Amino acid sequence: MPDTSASRCYFNFHSAGRLVFGSGSVKHLASFLAPWSPRKVFVLSDRVLEQAGVVAQVLEPLQAAGLNLRVCLDGEPEPTFAVADKVLAAARDFGPDAIIAVGGGSNMDLAKITACILTHGGSYRDYVNFGKVPGPVLPLICLPTTSGTGSEVSHAAVLTDQANHIKVSILSHYLRPAVAVVDPMLTLSCPAKPTADSGIDALTHAIETFTATAYDQMEVPVTEPFPYDGKHPLGDMCAEKAIALIGQHLVTAVREPNNLAAREGMSLAATLAGLAFSNGAVAVVHALEYPLGGAVHVSHGAGNGLLLPYVMRFNLPTRTKETARIAALLGEDTTGVTDAVAVERAITAVERLRAAIGIPNQLRELGVTRDQLPTFAAKAFGIKRLMLLNGRRPTEADLLGILEAAW
Ligand SMILES: NC(=O)c1ccc[n+]([C@@H]2O[C@H](COP(=O)([O-])OP(=O)(O)OC[C@H]3O[C@@H](n4cnc5c(N)ncnc54)[C@H](O)[C@@H]3O)[C@@H](O)[C@H]2O)c1
Ligand SMILES: [Zn+2]
Repeated sequence: MPDTSASRCYFNFHSAGRLVFGSGSVKHLASFLAPWSPRKVFVLSDRVLEQAGVVAQVLEPLQAAGLNLRVCLDGEPEPTFAVADKVLAAARDFGPDAIIAVGGGSNMDLAKITACILTHGGSYRDYVNFGKVPGPVLPLICLPTTSGTGSEVSHAAVLTDQANHIKVSILSHYLRPAVAVVDPMLTLSCPAKPTADSGIDALTHAIETFTATAYDQMEVPVTEPFPYDGKHPLGDMCAEKAIALIGQHLVTAVREPNNLAAREGMSLAATLAGLAFSNGAVAVVHALEYPLGGAVHVSHGAGNGLLLPYVMRFNLPTRTKETARIAALLGEDTTGVTDAVAVERAITAVERLRAAIGIPNQLRELGVTRDQLPTFAAKAFGIKRLMLLNGRRPTEADLLGILEAAW
């Protein structure tokens, strides 16, 4: 018998406790909460979503069911520690026994952190990195209104640490929502920019998982707590479907906001990409985005979208087959062409998609100065979990090279 105690002889697949998908599903929201019979429900969203009428769509079935609600509209994009404090104070004041998040990744992540601290006490600083949440948190129901982050099924919550100019992640399987309610109708009002940014974030999730280190090649024993399992067949299934759906639907969703078929395609893609990355991996693109997003004003998705083709090119020597497959998934004709030709088509397809939805392609367009690049490289290199998972292991100098190319 081989000694498998240290090697990775198995992988896991985690999700939200229940995943509801479909246009109109929000009307049945109260029934999804029924297993917990909550007495007090804290609903977290933001003013933009209230203005857009999305909050009302969510409140209607809850009010009809006679639930005791407290609505907090203090969510903000790319939330900082200060925003998290404000939301936490509002939730503490109410003392809910269930939390509903309505919004993109920003509001869903805030709700996760709030649920964690209301249950276990302490401050979010106590939970940064993986595995610090000691047990289940308050029932959390997440309704995504963007098609991007996959936070509705993921184990991650991201905050911006303004003092240190970097984003920090709290990662725990206990942060996977009890229920994810993915109703594409809630995304119809999403403006072009967040649709584009969050959509290319989903593409990044899918591609980073699909090109990651395989689960049985990871240099982390199964016995060591680690937030990702690397590339594996179930993650690949989700990633491949997500890449194909994004290739088909993202540009239409940006240009024709009321196109429900495109919104449905993107909603499914984002949730699948969330399942992919939160089991498999995010890697060098996300690692580079964390210091970038902490230093200049750029959304998580736009930062990732800008960097993605540069990292795909860096990964080519060890990820040729996977990158060639991405070309076909994105709708490129690869019949009869060599892998060397197909990989160029994959990168060009991503660059074309990025341009079509208005994501910049050079860091200098975001106001990044060249002398900032070594600091970004050093900070990204310090996020060891993301370096380990990348399909080609980078040195700090490699990261600087990627940033120089992207500058
Ligand atoms: N937890 C995870 O797994 C995970 C994964 C990736 C990214 N993130 C984080 O998620 C955040 C980004 O989330 P996002 O891209 O979903 O955007 P977002 O949540 O920051 O939303 C962007 C803006 O769009 C508005 N908006 C969203 N949906 C709308 C709608 N339907 N109608 C009108 N306006 C709408 C919001 O009010 C907000 O002003 C970042 O902080 C990022 O770090 C988390
Ligand atoms: Zn992301």
